[in-house]
Amino acid sequence: MDTAHPSFPILVALFVLLLGVTSSQPYEEFLQCLEFHDSNITSIVYTRANSSFSSLLESSIRNPRFDTSATPKPLLIFTPRQISHIESAIRCSRAHRIQIRVRSGGHDYEGLSYSTISPSLTFLVLDLRNLRAIQVDVPSKTAWAQAGATLGELYYAIAAESRTLAFPAGMWPTVGLGGHISGGGYGSLLRKHGIAADNVVDAQVVDVEGRILDRASMGEDLFWAIRGGGGNTFGIVVAWKLSLVSVPPTVTLFTASRTAQHKGIELFHRWQHVVDKLPDDLIVMASVVLNSVANPVQANATTIQASFNSLYLGGIEGLIPMMDAKFPDLGLRRENCVEMSWAKSILYFAGFPLNSPLESLLDRTISATGSAKFKGKSDYVKEPIPISGFEGIWEKLKEVGVQTGGLILASYGGKMSEIPESSIPFPHRAGNIYQVEEVAFWVEDGVEAADGYLNWLRGLYEYMTPYVSKNPREAYANYRDLDIGRNGGGGEGDYRRARSWGSSYYKNNFDRLVRVKTAVDPANFFRNEQSIPPLSSWR
Ligand SMILES: Cc1cc2nc3c(=O)[nH]c(=O)nc-3n(C[C@H](O)[C@H](O)[C@H](O)COP(=O)(O)OP(=O)(O)OC[C@H]3O[C@@H](n4cnc5c(N)ncnc54)[C@H](O)[C@@H]3O)c2cc1C
Ligand SMILES: *[C@@H]1O[C@H](CO)[C@@H](O)[C@H](O)[C@H]1NC(C)=O
Ligand SMILES: *[C@@H]1O[C@H](CO)[C@@H](O)[C@H](O)[C@H]1NC(C)=O
Ligand SMILES: *[C@@H]1O[C@H](CO)[C@@H](O)[C@H](O)[C@H]1NC(C)=O
Repeated sequence: MDTAHPSFPILVALFVLLLGVTSSQPYEEFLQCLEFHDSNITSIVYTRANSSFSSLLESSIRNPRFDTSATPKPLLIFTPRQISHIESAIRCSRAHRIQIRVRSGGHDYEGLSYSTISPSLTFLVLDLRNLRAIQVDVPSKTAWAQAGATLGELYYAIAAESRTLAFPAGMWPTVGLGGHISGGGYGSLLRKHGIAADNVVDAQVVDVEGRILDRASMGEDLFWAIRGGGGNTFGIVVAWKLSLVSVPPTVTLFTASRTAQHKGIELFHRWQHVVDKLPDDLIVMASVVLNSVANPVQANATTIQASFNSLYLGGIEGLIPMMDAKFPDLGLRRENCVEMSWAKSILYFAGFPLNSPLESLLDRTISATGSAKFKGKSDYVKEPIPISGFEGIWEKLKEVGVQTGGLILASYGGKMSEIPESSIPFPHRAGNIYQVEEVAFWVEDGVEAADGYLNWLRGLYEYMTPYVSKNPREAYANYRDLDIGRNGGGGEGDYRRARSWGSSYYKNNFDRLVRVKTAVDPANFFRNEQSIPPLSSWR
């Protein structure tokens, strides 16, 4: 190749690039580029000068930690109404070197769908709120759902067609299908049917060249990668084709809580020995949470509460004898149980009053944490934690300064143990008793307050080290944690960091993800702080 004389196109590209860098308002050129492709397109662009910009940006910021004046903001928000708008956005963003952050539901734990840790980054938010059509086909037990739809909208659409169909995804209604399935997506049906990404049978994706691909045209490597290999990495997912699962018309739920430390610890200890071996029609999740001011119900009470939440795919008559036989220590009583449809169980888990209408699933304004900021981390437990380990957890929770924090545990086993680790990028399968989420919530503003809570949480995570998976210390990609791999260091820092979080989230699937990324997006256009890097970016 002769590189001595730059060719004319390269000079033009260089000129465009310089223009982009020196321009005080790069979005004007970006807008001209968009208009060139579609004269109507400006009606879906919100610049910073637009009076609706802030409310639109904030409307799906789900972690108030990233909603401060110091949080880096996008240059503009782009709200496509049709696929061609996404193609134009990709073409013009590439031409004008603006990074795209695609947002579906906005629940990213580290705010990466609408912000960044790099204050100087020029980026736009491609917000899929207007692409949320859902078509359920009962005879084939499938649904096409656009990525901007929420889980609540999906469950509502399914319930409108059938009381005995469901989809095995997450339990909070406003979570978006775009990010959720891109990172895995688990909920109360995981022991029976696996996770959301296990139940995707086709998809519509716009790639870096602006091509619209389906499963047949993208090929099995890319189709494998998008089912759990992380969002904002391989392309923009426009829609998923989901395989629906059958559920009985009536399911049974219960919540049992203990506040006495001794009783709580004993139950947790027992719980670990039975949960992964229960029949897969039954899931018993657990949490131990310190509640104080951030909990409006128990205003001033600082209590540590151990809770067990359960879903049984059947009626009370079947559940009671099963619990008596498998987990008698919990002492489950009929009056603790309530029967309802599967769709309504989502509202139950989300804390809605029992008589809430199913339409509550459609409410996009509900917030899981109110004004509280949060940080989460995750772990996998393969050997039961000893009693002394739990005693230490209780001590951690009692440490001064923490308002609300704790552990949320989801039991594995059942179908999760049957699916091979390399089936899709999500690798946490056989051998796990349960998944742990360590979490802290706080309401105070400011960096100092945040640092206190973050340090507390990091201390709890440190404390958990001997009790959880090692080499790698596994973590759930959808509970994004920028602490993982932070101390990569060295000249190969990026590479080491990526390997660190990459093996935690994806174990041995990381290498295949890198190969797919290198094949479909070698210049690393779709990226964020924790997206799979192409091989070329390490050289
Ligand atoms: C309150 C709350 C409850 C939760 N409950 C559960 C639960 O029950 N089960 C569970 O498994 N997880 C749960 N999560 C975690 C959740 O699954 C992840 O945060 C998920 O990534 C959110 O998807 P989103 O579309 O809402 O978020 P976003 O912030 O919009 O997206 C997350 C990531 O995916 C990328 N992305 C978004 N859309 C697309 C797209 N169309 N194509 C390509 N990339 C895309 C984004 O750029 C970002 O990197 C919960 C999170 C919160 C905050
Ligand atoms: C632009 O908008 C007008 C009026 O809404 C519509 O008739 C026309 O088809 C649109 N053009 C394109 C290219 O979408
Ligand atoms: C804000 O942007 C939207 C979408 O482009 C547009 O319809 C609206 O008129 C703008 N509002 C203001 C005040 O500029
Ligand atoms: C909570 O504490 C505040 C301040 O200490 C006090 O004024 C208030 O009465 C308390 N509320 C309850 C319900 O105990």
